[in-house]
Parts: sequence; C-alpha cells; structure tokens
Amino acid sequence: MISDINQLIEKVLIDEDTLNLRIRKLSSYINDYYKDEDTLIMVGILKGSVIFMSELAKHVKIDCNLEFMAVSSYDGTESTGNVKILKDLDVDIKDKNVLLVEDIIDTGYTLNKLKSNLEKRDPKEVRIITLLDKPERRVTEIKPDWYGFKIPNEFVVGFGLDYSQKYRNLPFIGVLKSSVYESDNK
Ligand code: IMP
Ligand code: MG
Repeated sequence: MISDINQLIEKVLIDEDTLNLRIRKLSSYINDYYKDEDTLIMVGILKGSVIFMSELAKHVKIDCNLEFMAVSSYDGTESTGNVKILKDLDVDIKDKNVLLVEDIIDTGYTLNKLKSNLEKRDPKEVRIITLLDKPERRVTEIKPDWYGFKIPNEFVVGFGLDYSQKYRNLPFIGVLKSSVYESDNK
C-alpha cells in the first residue's frame, strides 16, 4: 500500500479529469498535424511517459507505431546532464515522422541529446510532445512542439512520474513533500 498520501503529497497540482481532458486536446493536435502523412512513429521515453503515451495514443486516429527508448540521467531529484541510451529503438526511422513523447522537460538535457541523436538517422521530422514543462529550469535550447501544462519549479510525482521509481501509478500530478527526499538524503 502507498503509505498515507498526506505524508507524501504537498498538494495535487493537476487532477485526473483535467489531465485526461487536456490529453484529448493534445491527441486532436496530433491528428490534425499528421493527417496527410503516411508514417508516424511515437517514441515514448521509458518509464515516465508510459501513462501519458497510453492516454494520448488511445485518441490518435493516424496509423502509428508505439515504440520506446530508455535513457538515464537522473539521480534522485537531480538531473546529471550525463544522458545515456539504455534501450535504443528497434525500428528504422529513415524518412519517417517521429514524435518523441516525454513526461516532463526539466533542464532539457534528455530531449536535447535524444533529438539530435535521432536526427542523425535521417527521419522525415522529429517533433516533441511533453505532458509537463518546467521552463524555469531549462539549461538547453530545447522547446516542445506541444505540451500539456507548464508547471512551476517543484518536484512532482504521479501519472508516470516517479521519485526513486515510486509513485508513478498515482492517477494525478502531485507536488512531493520535500520532507520525503530530505529524509532520504540524510
Ligand atoms: P531533463 O533532462 O532535466 O529535462 O529531465 C527530464 C527527465 O527528468 C524527465 O523525463 C523525468 O524523468 C525527470 N524529471 C524532471 N523533473 C521531474 C519531476 O519533477 N518529477 C519526476 N521526474 C522528473
Ligand atoms: Mg523521464
């Protein structure tokens, strides 16, 4: 059982209904943008994007592949900037439309690295969609083509996002109490 939610979550930032409504809207942007295209490869970045990607893909009306990559760059609540590909794509993206699906853009290191990596494989286009964007924290130039919500500089969990691999399954986006990670860092 998840221990008492009030010990864990400072506040609910975005509730489940608001998330699902916005994700439907994002799916409609995708349907519009790719309507005359023959290819769409959605690439979810494991593991954080899994819930967002599932909700998004359910309402995409274009034939598409659902693919995944895994990278590592985080240590607890800190981005290290040292982005490593742990699992690469197992499809060829040459001349294909690629849509990178991310849970959150924070420093931007992850997507900056991934986008330039994928662009070297000669795709038709690489676009980025993210559920959350924390623009205050950005240290690279990267910008999403579509985003769900801009959020303040607070560490959030739920709807795919974790703290040390936990709380991804919460159905809302909540601000994690700082006491949770402060007690871990002691
Ligand atoms: P970036 O490389 O700094 O943009 O980091 C992106 C990755 O960091 C995301 O895919 C998340 O896995 C993780 N991340 C950044 N901020 C948060 C947060 O507030 N909660 C949980 N994970 C986060
Ligand atoms: Mg992630």
